[in-house]
Amino acid sequence: MANDISFDTPPSVLPAGKQNIPRHVAIIMDGNGRWAEKRNQPRIMGHRAGVEAVRGMVEGCAKNGVEVLTLFAFSSENWRRPKQEVGLLMELFMTALGREVKRLHKNNVRLRVVGDIEGFSKPLQKRVAEAQALTQENTGLTVVVAANYGGRWDITQAAKYLAAQVQAGQLNVEDITPERMADAMSLADLPEPDLFIRTGGESRISNFLLWQLAYTEFYFSDILWPDFNIDALNNAIVSFATRQRRFGRTGQQVEQNKTRTTSC
Ligand code: FPP
Repeated sequence: MANDISFDTPPSVLPAGKQNIPRHVAIIMDGNGRWAEKRNQPRIMGHRAGVEAVRGMVEGCAKNGVEVLTLFAFSSENWRRPKQEVGLLMELFMTALGREVKRLHKNNVRLRVVGDIEGFSKPLQKRVAEAQALTQENTGLTVVVAANYGGRWDITQAAKYLAAQVQAGQLNVEDITPERMADAMSLADLPEPDLFIRTGGESRISNFLLWQLAYTEFYFSDILWPDFNIDALNNAIVSFATRQRRFGRTGQQVEQNKTRTTSC
């Protein structure tokens, strides 16, 4: 996939010879609140700074040749936050979407939003639809924003979809396979995440892409999200590049297969 990127920051400085670029990077952007609290600022200032970090990450991923970047912007459980913070976050999504979408489009980025969008206000739903429509033909980096998303919600909606097919007589129960489930999940048309990053020092996946992360490499960073810059992203990618991905095979099998494919 060719990334026609003309962002105005210097090119990536990944170490030479690093070939293992993840196709799909999925991120839990944690630490905005603490970033603001450390500066005696209201939490929303951390979220605003978080949007700037998103911009840097989009540029960094595009320049490194990553094909898909998925960002956990608002979980199904984030509604439990104080009402004021939720309201301000919604306003931030509105303004960020309005402000950034032209820039994304100019840089050939395709924007997708996944999650239970109907839980959002009508104006926000409209803005999401417009942003997706404007960028849908773009062929560069795909940015997926997970909003009002939960991994359990995603698995449940896939199960409901297949159950409805069974009920309608279009599918036999015996034909429900992991592949059919995968096809009914939100990100079915995209490669599964290769690299999962969580910033902010916590080591859990908080109901993110539960199904899709089955074979993903995990990378946890103590850096608070607003401070997670291109160098931090590069460190994560370098760490990923050193991992041996086995997908159930033995290490020896993986090595043998590598030798075979490189000597062909
Ligand atoms: C978690 O930090 C962060 C969020 C719940 C919101 C993340 C949203 C953004 C960065 C804006 C993204 C916008 C777009 C349009 C993609 P936290 O508040 O839980 O931090 P804490 O753990 O320090 O309290």
